[in-house]
Amino acid sequence: MKEVIVSPSLLGGNPLNIEKDVEMINNSEADWLHIDIMDGVFVPNIAIGFPVLQGLGKICRKPLDVHLMIVHPEKWIDLIASTGAMMMNVHYEACTHLHRVVQQIHQAGMKAAVTLNPATPVSMLEDIINDVDMVLLMSVNPGFGGQKFIEHTYAKVDRLRRLIDENGSHALIEIDGGVNAETAPKLIAHGADVLVAGSYVFKSDDPKAKIAELKNIR
Ligand code: DX5
Ligand code: ZN
Repeated sequence: MKEVIVSPSLLGGNPLNIEKDVEMINNSEADWLHIDIMDGVFVPNIAIGFPVLQGLGKICRKPLDVHLMIVHPEKWIDLIASTGAMMMNVHYEACTHLHRVVQQIHQAGMKAAVTLNPATPVSMLEDIINDVDMVLLMSVNPGFGGQKFIEHTYAKVDRLRRLIDENGSHALIEIDGGVNAETAPKLIAHGADVLVAGSYVFKSDDPKAKIAELKNIR
């Protein structure tokens, strides 16, 4: 049985007490910490600047899974690598020269993930699927936590699973948005490998228990 990778999204936490949330993550069964960076241009919201990301790199003992919802993510590759981030997620919609960006992320020593907005078809990845370490499917429109899961995502997971398997790609499938006790088992059944969860974990009375619950879905 495959083990699910759980990457709680710090966006769901308390922005006035990030350290406490990271301490919880450090002591939980979380595999990674998902960090959302927004620029108010690519998405209609602003979240987490690079000084905060650098601080997080120092205190978080779990690998950082950095999701950039910004234009020109390639400008920040070296800076993000310097925080010790394990994974850099760039949006397909934000990269004119995606192949080059993926190469540069690898040269900087990080794993490279490409993220698709809900309306971007999986088929757009046909010519890059063997070069990426992960594909992040947005199951809500990016920019905010606490939104309703888009049901169409299950069909996209099926198509992505097929694309990965047919090409012998090692890419993981990560899902972000509206992940909870209802959607998570179905996502795993459809072939997802990594679950991001913000509200479901952080808005609960017992975040560690929610992480453990997601971790134990088979
Ligand atoms: C939204 C972010 C997500 C967000 C998910 O644009 O990419 O990571 O935190 O939040 P939930 O799990 O509440 O949908
Ligand atoms: Zn995210």
